[in-house]
Amino acid sequence: MKTSFDLEPIEKASVDELRALQLQRLKSTLMHAYANSPVYRAKFDAAGVHPQDCNSLADLAKFPFTTKADLRDSYPFGMFAVQRDKLARIHASSGTTGKPTVVGYTLNDIDTWSNCVARSIRAAGARPADTVHVSYGYGLFTGGLGAHYGAEKLGLTVVPFGGGQTERQVQLINDFTPDIIMVTPSYMLALADEFERQGLSASDSSLRLGIFGAEPWTNDMRLNIEQRMGMDAVDIYGLSEVMGPGVASECVETKDGPTIWEDHFYPEIIDPETGEPVADGEIGELVFTSLTKEALPIIRYRTRDLTRLLPGTARTMRRMEKITGRSDDMMIVRGVNVFPTQIEELILRQAALSAHYQCVLTKEGPLDNLMVKVETRVGLGPESPLAKEAAQALVHDAKAYIGTSLSVELCAEGAIERSQGKAKRVLDLRKN
Ligand code: DLL
Repeated sequence: MKTSFDLEPIEKASVDELRALQLQRLKSTLMHAYANSPVYRAKFDAAGVHPQDCNSLADLAKFPFTTKADLRDSYPFGMFAVQRDKLARIHASSGTTGKPTVVGYTLNDIDTWSNCVARSIRAAGARPADTVHVSYGYGLFTGGLGAHYGAEKLGLTVVPFGGGQTERQVQLINDFTPDIIMVTPSYMLALADEFERQGLSASDSSLRLGIFGAEPWTNDMRLNIEQRMGMDAVDIYGLSEVMGPGVASECVETKDGPTIWEDHFYPEIIDPETGEPVADGEIGELVFTSLTKEALPIIRYRTRDLTRLLPGTARTMRRMEKITGRSDDMMIVRGVNVFPTQIEELILRQAALSAHYQCVLTKEGPLDNLMVKVETRVGLGPESPLAKEAAQALVHDAKAYIGTSLSVELCAEGAIERSQGKAKRVLDLRKN
């Protein structure tokens, strides 16, 4: 019997079939954006391009990029390509500075999105009759509702918990025995700590599978969580401007970077300085063009996420390498580029340290200082000789592997603020 757990035909299509579908969808997306969104029309006109200039996928490079600034400048609904009465839902980013970015969905868009997330959850290793505990925040953030609709679409049972109330979350996980959790990796760590605080064994929980995203996390963090929780940990990627979670997602059988759902999102990697596309396999900034969106078609959106495109393995569609950083998170310390994930990798090699950390940047005269605050492993304490040795090793490894000097402040358990969603890994005090 066919169930929704079978692969969709397009997931098994040849690369040629996929490219043909992409070109057809790209042409109609460009046409739709030009005809129905005055902002896109003005941008295309200013760049001297018309949708009819697109006769191959490579022609996409002739079209102008879209950035967060375009969305902000047309706040709230200026870029939308449908009338407001066609909108089924609106989400918005929190917007740390200035106005939030607002995104909209028609009913068809919600359906496409749900399918992409359902596909992602299936690729992650869900089985019929699984229960999914959703700890991504509900509300304007796309994480909670995106995960929720996808899990429901796949026919699973959803526990829509959302973020926060850590103690209660753990109780309910213990009582409802879900099979899958969808949460940011940093909040998973907070939940794991809470299991232990309640005297429960995290690795004995019912959870078999974690679908983690919304922030960068390393393969070392994957191993750490898998061992601690006794689960498979897979990566789900997405961003609200392009849709939300489920733009790309990892297949559990390979765990080798998210497969991009290329029938809906066309990826490019560009040189962030010149804007020129680079070849598959080369690192640069990830750019997405939506192929099926109605309310807010997105043309060549600059994600600011740095990665590279890799050939398909578990699917014919291409993968992206696990994201190690976004250009916004890059710290420049005395001329050396450092990403928090590089620090995370080194921290997790030290058994005496925990995975709770934060990078603090200060200025000493003209010089940048990077201080890594990191909690010691439960039961050790900052004064323990083992922890001090680990701190020294971290200083040494940072110099040897990243080429940066840093200092380490060992902290007691709980000293670093726990995120209930995305962790704030960098505290930059230099600008004050
Ligand atoms: O974070 C959507 C999402 C929700 C994805 C739940 C996965 C799970 P935004 O708030 O718009 O949307 O933030 C998007 O978060 O550009 C990346 O920098 C980062 N990000 C998202 N997923 C990953 C991931 C959601 N798996 C921004 N790995 C993106 C690394 C990620 N970074």
